[in-house]
Amino acid sequence: MGELREIEELKKDCIVLAHNYQIPRIQDVADFVGDSLGLCQRATKVDKPYILFCGVDFMAESAAMLNPDKTVLMPEFMAKCPMAAQLPAEKVREARRKYPDAAVVLYINTRLEARAEADIVCTSANAVKIIKSLPEKEIIFGPDWALAWHVQRNVPEKKIITIPAQGACRTHLLFKPEHILEAREKYPNAEVLVHPECKPEVQLLADKICSTEQMIRWAKESNSREFIIATEIGLLHRLKKENPGKTFIPAYKRAVCISMKKNTWEKFMEELRGRKNVVKIDPVIAEKARKSLDRMLKAV
Ligand code: 13P
Ligand code: SF4
Repeated sequence: MGELREIEELKKDCIVLAHNYQIPRIQDVADFVGDSLGLCQRATKVDKPYILFCGVDFMAESAAMLNPDKTVLMPEFMAKCPMAAQLPAEKVREARRKYPDAAVVLYINTRLEARAEADIVCTSANAVKIIKSLPEKEIIFGPDWALAWHVQRNVPEKKIITIPAQGACRTHLLFKPEHILEAREKYPNAEVLVHPECKPEVQLLADKICSTEQMIRWAKESNSREFIIATEIGLLHRLKKENPGKTFIPAYKRAVCISMKKNTWEKFMEELRGRKNVVKIDPVIAEKARKSLDRMLKAV
């Protein structure tokens, strides 16, 4: 049997969900490819007993939380987002004690234990909208300092308290203003799309700041023919595939998330066949953390 036919056979009882940064081969056989928000939304509508989640730890944990009666698998357990580990639950409790009137909004790129302490979670696609919708004037936000800066810029009427002081995505930190300026000089008609995990000085050079899925949507809808893209390189695959007449220029070709790329094709196939890497979450913590996730899903 050919590999693609074997995959179709194996997928009869298993849905494959993949993040936009996964390798092209995995994206091409996935049932759904999207950003963190889209993946959560899709995970609420699964009708198969297995979910093979191709992304990083916090995303697979969300899928497991939303599907307690299903088995969530990962091609590689070591696919862990380093930023998600930058905010321990105790830091959140400490901030709450210090600012008792503030709401706690955590970026979904956070470990489950910390998310269990949040009032609501958000993604890069909806952080501004969610924070605007809250009645509280003070917001404890973490762990991404760059996303916090983006929110503060768009919601100046609120005070954003960042925890930890300098949490960040090491992949998006690689983008520098000169990458954008050089690309703009070469492609003066291009639109610049920047992910809000990039540093403020890079965000300031953007035409649009958006999540990965919002970049895909914008590239389709915009009349521009050329786009400079400042996010992880994996997004280029869908951008090119879904917009054959348009040109996409990576602002920095070496912006690769090594955690996302731990899901190799070999590990993907091994897991689809073997179903051994089951995502296990603490049921007590999951029940607490689910509230902040459900609240976000209701708000968007
Ligand atoms: P989105 O795909 O939600 O924009 O997130 C980007 C990211 O870095 C996920 O880890
Ligand atoms: Fe984490 Fe950044 Fe990789 Fe996303 S790109 S998984 S935020 S390290």
